[in-house]
Amino acid sequence: MSVAWHSQGMTNVPPDDGWLSPREAAWVARMPFEKRRSEFRMGRWTAKSAIALFLGRSLAPETFHAIEIDRAPDGAPAPMVEGEPAPASISMTDRADQAVCVVSQPGLGLGVDLELVEPRTDAFVADYLTEAERRLVGESSDREEHDLRANLIWCGKESALKVLRTGLRRDTRSVEVSFPDTPRVEGWSAMTVRAAEGSEYPGWWRRYGDFVLTVAATESFSPPRPLVDPPGLETAVPAHAWLTRAPQGGAR
Ligand SMILES: CC(C)(COP(=O)(O)OP(=O)(O)OC[C@H]1O[C@@H](n2cnc3c(N)ncnc32)[C@H](O)[C@@H]1OP(=O)(O)O)[C@@H](O)C(=O)NCCC(=O)NCCS
Repeated sequence: MSVAWHSQGMTNVPPDDGWLSPREAAWVARMPFEKRRSEFRMGRWTAKSAIALFLGRSLAPETFHAIEIDRAPDGAPAPMVEGEPAPASISMTDRADQAVCVVSQPGLGLGVDLELVEPRTDAFVADYLTEAERRLVGESSDREEHDLRANLIWCGKESALKVLRTGLRRDTRSVEVSFPDTPRVEGWSAMTVRAAEGSEYPGWWRRYGDFVLTVAATESFSPPRPLVDPPGLETAVPAHAWLTRAPQGGAR
């Protein structure tokens, strides 16, 4: 199975809404908060770009208009092309003004998560990680490594919980992240997530500056290939543009 990925930042998103489908534009209009609006638009822009590139379509406005990222009842993305289920499986994430979408053939369950390497308290580690994961964090040689391991494990869990389609409805300690001792492949390191009921989700992780990215799936896959190389995430700096935008007085 091959998995591709694409990243876009807040500054890549066109300011107008012409590239949203009418339903997506209506959803945005009902969102009361700028943070959610801007993240929703960035996520849709990134997912639509990824699907267009994956399917070999042009990046013309008509393509963006024809692709819609619907949501399944559980919250997972349900991509449509011209009103029909897209011939692609996707998963989406965003953090600090960067969004990532992974895309593959239909039928492969996918989960992606993007996190910052940021300080994590001992209480966070104790509350959300399993005993084996706590041990991995505890073996860190310094605080920087502690924070990388804590955020990476959290990131791996979230990607697996997206594969399982439960998100955080499920106890984060019911999935356990481990790292096989295998060489890196094209910059990616291997990751495995085991669910308490016995199922296993293979995956990959890598770091880009202050960001850490994990991808998990229902079956083994080669390291995700970027749809645009080098990916924007390679030089991305975490930001929070919504904090500095003028308040818009509620729904647009
Ligand atoms: C899945 C979840 C862990 C992601 O949260 P997050 O880390 O804040 O956000 P990310 O940016 O990494 O991912 C968001 C994307 O995950 C995807 N997603 C949401 N629910 C999902 C699910 N059940 N399965 C797979 N993917 C899911 C969506 O594409 C979403 O983007 P969108 O909201 O723009 O459509 C979280 O949304 C969750 O736990 N959802 C289930 C519980 C729920 O619905 N709670 C209601 C809100 S409190």
